Amino acid sequence: MKVLGIESSCDETGVALVATRADAPPQLLADALHSQVEMHAAYGGVVPELASRDHIRRVLPLAREVLGRAGCALHDIDLVAYTRGPGLAGALLVGAGVAVALAAALDRPALGVHHLEGHLLSPFLAPEPPQFPFVALLVSGGHTQLMQVRGVGDYALLGETIDDAAGEAFDKSAKLLGLGYPGGPALARMAEFGDAQAYPLPRPLLHSKDLDFSFAGLKTAVLTQVRKLGPGVCEQARADLAASTQAAIVDVLVAKTLRALTATGLHRVVVAGGVGANLRLRERLDAGAARLGARVHYPPPALCTDNGAMIALAAALRLQHGLADSRRDGAFDVLPRWPLAAVSQPGA
Ligand code: KG4
Ligand code: ZN
Repeated sequence: MKVLGIESSCDETGVALVATRADAPPQLLADALHSQVEMHAAYGGVVPELASRDHIRRVLPLAREVLGRAGCALHDIDLVAYTRGPGLAGALLVGAGVAVALAAALDRPALGVHHLEGHLLSPFLAPEPPQFPFVALLVSGGHTQLMQVRGVGDYALLGETIDDAAGEAFDKSAKLLGLGYPGGPALARMAEFGDAQAYPLPRPLLHSKDLDFSFAGLKTAVLTQVRKLGPGVCEQARADLAASTQAAIVDVLVAKTLRALTATGLHRVVVAGGVGANLRLRERLDAGAARLGARVHYPPPALCTDNGAMIALAAALRLQHGLADSRRDGAFDVLPRWPLAAVSQPGA
């Protein structure tokens, strides 16, 4: 089965073609992505209306590009998958509208997919896919969640952020340090030259018994330090503050992930989302997991961030496991706030 996947929940338009067979691992035939980061940078964050308009401009050319690269024609597509939620309503509507219209024109079914399920299953497109069950750490600009993944469609939320996401904490701190948007990678680069012990920043909920996160207080603490340092702050002090901020975020992410391993008795972790690219996080998590006899899987960078491949894959796996009904009636909706629990069936 060949599945065209369309992702448009936030600021990236992703389209991909994935082939699945009952007797072989799923195969990514081609994918294409357009990131709107530069467009939103001028505003210091994602502007929803601009995001929707840009998805409209990009989605069909990207689909053409994907089919061309895969050497496939429109009529080779067996199913059109799209992100039904969660995300920005207008942005989701673009992908959903195009997907359902395309499916109708081709007389093929369409299927709406949960964005986070896409992230959770994305490692199955990697060269060394993990085995179920595993703990998933989902860390992006919009999400920070720990999940127990027992199989396709069988997910239990272990903990999540009660305020800002980890990526948001990186981005907001970077902005306070004058590093532009999205500042996570820039802050990480600057941190390489800094002393992570220089500023004692809070590690919110580090010692709480649950698996929840809180990053809003960290941003306030960084602001306080930036104000203390004043406008003429030297490069070394900025680097020290960047390193201290990164250390605070990484400490909490690592501690909670290791606690999730202990609590579930599992020995595998999958990290998904843009913050998973952070090298300090990888180092610390690998070392901590090794101490527990566990292994950490990181999907290739292109599958860590938002992409169409994970949407195509999640749709195909759901159908294969009899967990979803694709539809041909052209009707669709989007669910900007859609809890993962709504698509999760224990023991599925
Ligand atoms: O998953 P993603 O590409 O997009 C969504 O949020 O949906 O994640 C983007 C987030 C941004 O907050 C960005 O600053 C952060 O991931 N990020 C990083 C790094 N690379 C990306 N944060 C810290 N260190 C990095 N190397
Ligand atoms: Zn995402």
